[in-house]
Parts: sequence; structure tokens; C-alpha cells
Amino acid sequence: MELRLEKFTKAFGPVTVIQDMDLTVGSGEMMALLGPSGCGKSTTLFAICGIHKMTGGRLYFGDRDVTSVPAQQRSVGVVFQNYALYPHMTAEQNIGFPLKVMRQPKAEIAKEVQRLADLVQIGDLLDRRPAQLSGGQQQRVALARAMIRKPDVLLLDEPLANLDAKLRLEMRAEIRRIQRETGITAILVTHDQVEAMSMCDRIALMRDGKIVQLDTPERMYADPASQFVAGFLGNPPISFLPARAGEQLAIGQSQVLPRPAGLEVQGDIVLGIRPEHFGPQHGQGLHGEVIFVEPQGREELVDVQLDGGGILRAILPTGDPVKLGDRVNWGVSGGNILAFSTEGVRL
Ligand SMILES: Nc1ncnc2c1ncn2[C@@H]1O[C@H](COP(=O)(O)OP(=O)(O)OP(=O)(O)O)[C@@H](O)[C@H]1O
Ligand SMILES: [Mg+2]
Repeated sequence: MELRLEKFTKAFGPVTVIQDMDLTVGSGEMMALLGPSGCGKSTTLFAICGIHKMTGGRLYFGDRDVTSVPAQQRSVGVVFQNYALYPHMTAEQNIGFPLKVMRQPKAEIAKEVQRLADLVQIGDLLDRRPAQLSGGQQQRVALARAMIRKPDVLLLDEPLANLDAKLRLEMRAEIRRIQRETGITAILVTHDQVEAMSMCDRIALMRDGKIVQLDTPERMYADPASQFVAGFLGNPPISFLPARAGEQLAIGQSQVLPRPAGLEVQGDIVLGIRPEHFGPQHGQGLHGEVIFVEPQGREELVDVQLDGGGILRAILPTGDPVKLGDRVNWGVSGGNILAFSTEGVRL
């Protein structure tokens, strides 16, 4: 079912934290709400599930205006970061609880619990209490409980934040599988760009209560609307380099790069160069000295202090013999240079 926010505004007392936000999540789509701490992600989610009243604007589930519908009567399943299972209940009782509240017959509840437990693959753990389950298993129980009423919309607020790195990886894939299998419309709130990029069909990137770009992960990465977006996506992050646009791009005191095709402006700008677009594999062009090397297993990160000013980061396959203090002359993939105004607007 499609979910649509129109001119959503939220104020706490005199402070407006979201102003006139429009957001449409397509039927069966998984949308990430991504952004730094305090930008309004959870506030948006709370408004959608009905915990917070909206100050202004409308919310639609399909054609139905649910703006004033109480939370219990909205068809939403929610999973929070602290999965908040009932500690004295078994996994089975936790999952079945929403149906018990609705006074469904016992046999019906048992059947539905089994269906959900199979979906999240914890069928053999139903007798255990939360304390006897791992973090990832608890998260699966929480997910099953959120989905047992067959909600129209699934809302996930930082559902993986409490898990260790390996489990997080596993649960990322699991949640995506379950979302695809059920075809449920979902919103994932996260401040982790890797999570947003790997799990979601599209990303709404928020800053200060506004959506600054809404796009597929690939497009947002390759074609960011601003320096903020370019800096938010990508790990290791993009490097920014002040430059002067004339016949060529002047870098620092003494070096130049060719002007990217289509760049119209003259004068001071900021270049954005991703680590995979700088290095010996791109030929030669910029002279500098290696000031930082960080092995990361398969790859290593290398920072180069450019002669005449500026630092660029490269990501190279491990085994390339680069040492601290080495002099290098490395190229940039010209077609992938991003240019921004000094105010951070994409040129
Ligand atoms: N109940 C409240 N009363 C007053 N201000 C609030 C309340 N809840 C949230 N805020 C403010 O609204 C803004 C958005 O908060 P929100 O919790 O939505 O951020 P977030 O994007 O989820 O951040 P995080 O990544 O840290 O969870 C913040 O400035 C926060 O201080
Ligand atoms: Mg939050």
C-alpha cells in the first residue's frame, strides 16, 4: 500500500522540527530515512505510526486519510532499536501478543505465530524467553511481532543499532528478504549510510527537518545534489578540495587538473573526489606525499598531501607497495570529478 505525507509539519511547543515535508513511499517499496542525529527521522516515524499528533499536513495510507486515526487503528507494525520484548513472556507469547489483545481464538493465534516464526526463521526457539535469545534472535522476534497483524506498513527505527557488526550484516539481508517476500511497504530509519544503501530501494536524505535529496542509492552516490549529500554517502568518505576554475582547474599553489566537461563557472569552487577515483590506476597528474596508510584487509586507505596544498584520499588493493613518506604522482578519473560552489551547491 502506498504511503503519502503531504506538507507534514511537526512542532514541539514553539520549536518547529519538521516543516512542510512531502514524502511518498510506493507500494512494496522500502524507503530509508537517512540523516544525522536530530534531523527528524524518528519524529517522522512517530507521526506515521500515530504516537505523535501531526502539527500540520496530511497522511494517507493508499487513498485513506489517516491523519486523525488513532495509533491502534492504523495498520502499522513498528520495530524500535531497543526491541522491547516482554521479558516474562516466551518468544511465542511475544509474537502472538498483538492477536491476543484482539481476542483472536487460540488456534488461530498458534497458526499465525508459526507462520511468522517460519518467516523469520526462529521456529525452534519459540519456548525461550528474551533473556535466553541472542540479540539477532530477539530482533527476529520483534520483527515477527510487528508483522503478525499483517500491517499495511512496516516502520523500522534503527532496528540493527544494538547488534554487533557480523549480526548486523546478517540481519540487514534478513530484513530485506522478509520485506521482499511479504511485499510490505516499509520505512527504515537509520543514520548508517551503508545500511540505507544496502537495504533500501530509495533513500530520503534529511537534514534539519527537511529532505535534501530523494533518490535511488546509486543515483544519490553518483549524482549528489549538494556537498552535504556527497559527504554523507560513501565509506571511506569523499575528499573535498578547494580549486579555482579558469582554463584549467588550479589546485593549491602549483598544480592543475583538466576542466570537467560541462562545468560552466569560473572562480573559486570545491571539488569532490571519491577515493576510488584517485590513485595510480588513473594515470598521473597530481604530485604529493603519502601522509597516512591504513590497511583494511583487502584494501588500504592512503592519504596524499598534494604539493601546494590539499589532501586526497585513495583506496588501493592491499599489496600495492605504498609507504608513509613516499612521493607519488597519481591521476584522477576526470569523468567522476564532482564540482560544488563554495556554498556547497552542486555545479
Ligand atoms: N518530545 C520532544 N520534545 C521536544 N523536542 C523534541 C522531542 N522529540 C524530538 N525533539 C527534537 O526534534 C528534533 C528531531 O528529533 P528526532 O528524534 O526526530 O531526531 P532523529 O533524526 O531521530 O535523531 P537520532 O538519529 O539521534 O535518533 C531534535 O532536535 C529533537 O531534539
Ligand atoms: Mg531517532
